[in-house]
Amino acid sequence: MKIAVLGTGMVGRAIADRLSTLGHDVVIGTRDVEQTLARTEPDRPGHLPFAQWQAHPAVQLMSFADAGAHGEVVVNATHGALSLSALEATGAANLAGKVLLDVGMPLDVSQGMPPRLTVANTDSLAEQIQRAYPEARVVKSLNTMHADTMVNPSRIPGHHNVFVAGEDAEAKEAVKSLLREFGWPDEAIMDLGGIKAARAVEMYGELLFAVAGRLGTFDFNLAIVRK
Ligand SMILES: NC(=O)c1ccc[n+]([C@@H]2O[C@H](COP(=O)([O-])OP(=O)(O)OC[C@H]3O[C@@H](n4cnc5c(N)ncnc54)[C@H](OP(=O)(O)O)[C@@H]3O)[C@@H](O)[C@H]2O)c1
Repeated sequence: MKIAVLGTGMVGRAIADRLSTLGHDVVIGTRDVEQTLARTEPDRPGHLPFAQWQAHPAVQLMSFADAGAHGEVVVNATHGALSLSALEATGAANLAGKVLLDVGMPLDVSQGMPPRLTVANTDSLAEQIQRAYPEARVVKSLNTMHADTMVNPSRIPGHHNVFVAGEDAEAKEAVKSLLREFGWPDEAIMDLGGIKAARAVEMYGELLFAVAGRLGTFDFNLAIVRK
C-alpha cells in the first residue's frame, strides 16, 4: 500500500521504517526537504539528524504536499501543537477521501515539563483535524505509547492495549489491519467509538508523562484489566 508518513521525528521514522520493512511503499513528509537533509546536529531529544537516519534508504523524503499526494493512507506524526499547520501544507486535496491516521499528541513544552495540552476536555487535535478536513477519514490511534512500542508491541511483555477512535468504520478497519501488521493481537485493540474519544486518549498525555517521570522511562504501556 502507498503510505505517506508526515513527520521526520522518532515517531515518523519508527512508523516509516516498520511499514517499509513490511513491504509498503512509504514516503516521509517534511516542511523543507533541503533544510531537513542539511541538519547536522542531533535534535533536542538527541536523535540523529535525518540525513544520517539510514534505516531505509528506500523511504524517500518529500515535502508534506508531495508525500500527501503519494499516500493512499496518510499518517500524521507531526508535532501535535503544529499538526494543523503541517496538514495545511499537505493540502486538503491530498487528504480528501484518505484514511488519516493521527498519532499526534497536542503537547506544549514551552513552559517546561510536564507538558501542557494545547486542546482538551471539550475538543481534541483529532477532532480539529476532522473538522478542518471533513473529507479525510480521521482515525486516532497509537498516541498513548512510545514510538518503538507502537510498531513493535512485543517489546512490552504481556497484555497491553492500543486504542482506536474515529467516525468512519472502514477507515478504522484499515488502521486496525495496519496495527495487526505491526504485531498487535486483536484482543489488544480497543475501539473506543467515534472521534470524540480522541479527547480521552490525548488527555492521557499528562498521565503518560507523570508515569514516565516516576519510572524514568517511556518503556511501558497501558493494560486494561477487567474481572
Ligand atoms: N515520541 C513519541 O514516542 C511519541 C509517542 C506518542 C505520541 N507522539 C506524538 O507523535 C508526534 C510526533 O512526535 P515525534 O517525537 O516523532 O516528533 P515531533 O518533534 O513532535 O514532530 C516532528 C515533526 O513535526 C514537524 N513540525 C515541527 N514544527 C512544525 C511547524 N511549525 N509546522 C509544521 N510542521 C512542524 C517537523 O517538521 P520537519 O520535518 O520539517 O522538521 C517534524 O516532521 C507528536 O505529535 C507527538 O506528540 C510521540
